Amino acid sequence: MTENQTTTLEVLFTPADFAALKDRELSGTVCVVFDVLRATSTMVTALANGTAAIIPVEEIEEALALRQEKPGLLLAGERDGVRIQANLTGSIPFDLGNSPREFTAERVRGRTIAMTTTNGTRALRACAPARKVLIGSFLNLRATAQFIEADTPSQLLLVCSGTHDQAAYEDVLAAGALCDVIWPKYINGAVADSAHMARSLFGLARADLPGAFAQSRNGRRLLGLAELSADVGFCAHRDTLELLAELGKDGLVRRRETKDAHPRT
Ligand code: MLT
Repeated sequence: MTENQTTTLEVLFTPADFAALKDRELSGTVCVVFDVLRATSTMVTALANGTAAIIPVEEIEEALALRQEKPGLLLAGERDGVRIQANLTGSIPFDLGNSPREFTAERVRGRTIAMTTTNGTRALRACAPARKVLIGSFLNLRATAQFIEADTPSQLLLVCSGTHDQAAYEDVLAAGALCDVIWPKYINGAVADSAHMARSLFGLARADLPGAFAQSRNGRRLLGLAELSADVGFCAHRDTLELLAELGKDGLVRRRETKDAHPRT
């Protein structure tokens, strides 16, 4: 793009904001969706460990219907943070929950996964009409930022998935971290106050991200569950995966090759 073209940069903080996207024209917009604790962190980890594709779905029933069609599909997801069990499906338990540490190469390499989580997969689906939808987290922040710096989409929307119906601290921090990297490319365009707010908040928390995560509602919930508490520190690592992930027009999340991709598993 030329320097005179106007760019827009905006952050959406809450689930009410992403629910309202259905009334917005998104065909020229690039969205980056964050559900740092934990859906988007889990998706990029699964892709780094060789998952072929992830199908984000909103409801448990949609995941079960996909499994009926494709028996080889893995089912993943949570309700109230824990793996979906037979009492919620009326039949089979899900194969995986929503902990990135479960999505090892042994479990997921070469597999396609249908995934439903409370907020993250809903946020992704809400962004589906956008020109491009990227999966953001601290784990792949640099790779995502590098793509945006190179592509400089004229309309950039950072979507925080939140927790239940509220904003989530860790999602706003990740959106702010991305704003911070790409700031020179966007500062001369239309920068929404929400982007200034997210970037400022990240500036206050950047020295101790695990500490900030531990203060968040999601962080406190996970830290209270012995088997999931390590997810908080795991998801607070920055730039461990040189991996770009995109929700395609076919509804599948796949790894998109970057020039210098070298995933760590
Ligand atoms: C969500 O989608 O709401 C989260 O990923 C919940 C979780 O941490 O499992």
